[in-house]
Amino acid sequence: MNPASLIPIAEPLPIHWAWFDILLIVTLTAHLLFMNALLGSAVIGLIRSVRGDTGPLRQAGMKLPPLLALTINMGVAPLLFLQVNYGNFDYVSSVLMGGWWLAVVAVLLAAYYGFYIGKFKFDAMGPGLRGLLFAASIGGCLYVGFMFTNNMTLMLHPETWTEYFRVQGAFLNLGDPTVPPRFLHAMVGALAVGGLFLALLGRTRKNDEFVDLGMTWFTRATLVNLAVGFWFLIAQPDDIVAAFMGGNIPATGTLLAAFTAMGAMLWAGYRKRPRQSAVWAVITVFLMVCTRHWLRVLSLAPWFDINTTPVTGQYGSFYLFLGFLVVGLALVGYMLKLYFAARGRGV
Ligand code: HEM
Repeated sequence: MNPASLIPIAEPLPIHWAWFDILLIVTLTAHLLFMNALLGSAVIGLIRSVRGDTGPLRQAGMKLPPLLALTINMGVAPLLFLQVNYGNFDYVSSVLMGGWWLAVVAVLLAAYYGFYIGKFKFDAMGPGLRGLLFAASIGGCLYVGFMFTNNMTLMLHPETWTEYFRVQGAFLNLGDPTVPPRFLHAMVGALAVGGLFLALLGRTRKNDEFVDLGMTWFTRATLVNLAVGFWFLIAQPDDIVAAFMGGNIPATGTLLAAFTAMGAMLWAGYRKRPRQSAVWAVITVFLMVCTRHWLRVLSLAPWFDINTTPVTGQYGSFYLFLGFLVVGLALVGYMLKLYFAARGRGV
């Protein structure tokens, strides 16, 4: 069977595709930053509490439910933009994963409850039960992340979709050599940003121990991630590696810019400057998301050229969306201002 016959025809787009790609990249950056703070701080806190120091888990544990809520909210937006531009690939891969993919919702809900119970019953539970509860919720988040890596790689390879007819049902993209380093790259990145999150908490609470702990995780995990990132690159097919090694100038330039930002981030990290490191971390994650976007464009090139998708040119609804976005962001900013002012007065 020709796998190309399994790719649905792209639906017409109301406006130029670049708008959706930009929104996809920006919102995915926010999603990954929240996910990193959530998962990384939970794992570091759990490891410390197993070693007898419950301080980091207690501090991080109070923030985990809102962090998970923000991760999910900031995940919905890129999911929608992804489906607009690449729905003819992503819908298929989601369906091929079947129950594995649908289970994400149930697992996420269970993890959410776990973090809530961990927050409100932190002291009521013994260390054993508390550890198990946090470990189970972290396990749930790892499952969700792994399913995303499977889906985001399966959508790039229609040549593997025919596996569905061989196994007669749902399957994961486990035969793809890029899946382990890709997932590990995201998870080690989460440890780094989670460490940075703890350091930022330490800085606002004038707790030097937290700053030291967080910045140590931040720098060490980033160094490990350099090696994992290299593994992720060389696991790609030869033509993709060549594209990132100078064959495709925009892709190579984006990767180089991401490396440069990472260097600045490490430099600030070693000087134990959490706020400066945070600024570089946001820039680095943004550039890595752009690099990952090039990877998608290059991988889909044999199957799909987004320029061939018809555009109907209905810009009216887009302007309405932009208007609501600006007003919404201004309102959120105003609410945050009121919130911090009330906290300052001890309300
Ligand atoms: C604890 C919960 C979550 C974790 C740990 C997590 C983790 C991840 C990871 C690791 C990736 C990168 C996958 C890859 O490309 O290899 C990712 C991408 C993504 N996540 Fe999440 N995620 C979570 C929840 C969600 C939710 C609830 C949504 C949507 C409702 C969401 C939407 C997305 C989307 C759309 C992408 C990929 C966008 C793109 O490829 O451009 N995530 N997530």
